[in-house]
Amino acid sequence: MSDLKVLFSRDQIAQRVAELAAAITRDFAGEQVIFVGVLKGASIFLSDLARAVQVDATFDFISVSSYGKGAVSSGEVQLIKDLDESVEGKNVILVEDILDTGLTLTYLKKLIAARQPRSLKLAALLDKISRRTEPIHADYTGFEIPDHFVVGYGMDHAERYRNLADICILPPEMF
Ligand code: IMP
Repeated sequence: MSDLKVLFSRDQIAQRVAELAAAITRDFAGEQVIFVGVLKGASIFLSDLARAVQVDATFDFISVSSYGKGAVSSGEVQLIKDLDESVEGKNVILVEDILDTGLTLTYLKKLIAARQPRSLKLAALLDKISRRTEPIHADYTGFEIPDHFVVGYGMDHAERYRNLADICILPPEMF
């Protein structure tokens, strides 16, 4: 993938994921946690994060589609796959690849909060803070990034590049 510029190398990602995992281990010492991954982009981040924490953890996954990410955004998010398990009374960490406008996590946070978890935290590997339209922030953030389109480490463009080990910038001519 020679046209792709590396934004964060696999070593930088591993280092930061270890730091986030240490924070989660501290915050949830002696407790149980459910990691809820937002498919598909968060799957690799969740896999690494969950293996690096030292707490009793389970996984679940949820999938949404958002319409009109472009100029004609309707801001609508639709549930495609719900959780398998109840989160009532549980500690939930919602795991997302990128916090961009914030529409997806705002929708999911509301959906899960309504199910009365014991606690609900957000972990986002990347935060494009300048793109935010919703008043939402992650409790655990990997890296703040400028408004580039990025791929790799789970993140895609038209389903490609998810398996790159580094996080790369996709140049506009490759769209
Ligand atoms: P939000 O609802 O605008 O916060 O969008 C979050 C979702 O948009 C992420 O989970 C990604 O699926 C997608 N997304 C936003 N920016 C990028 C990017 O640079 N690369 C790949 N996917 C992105």
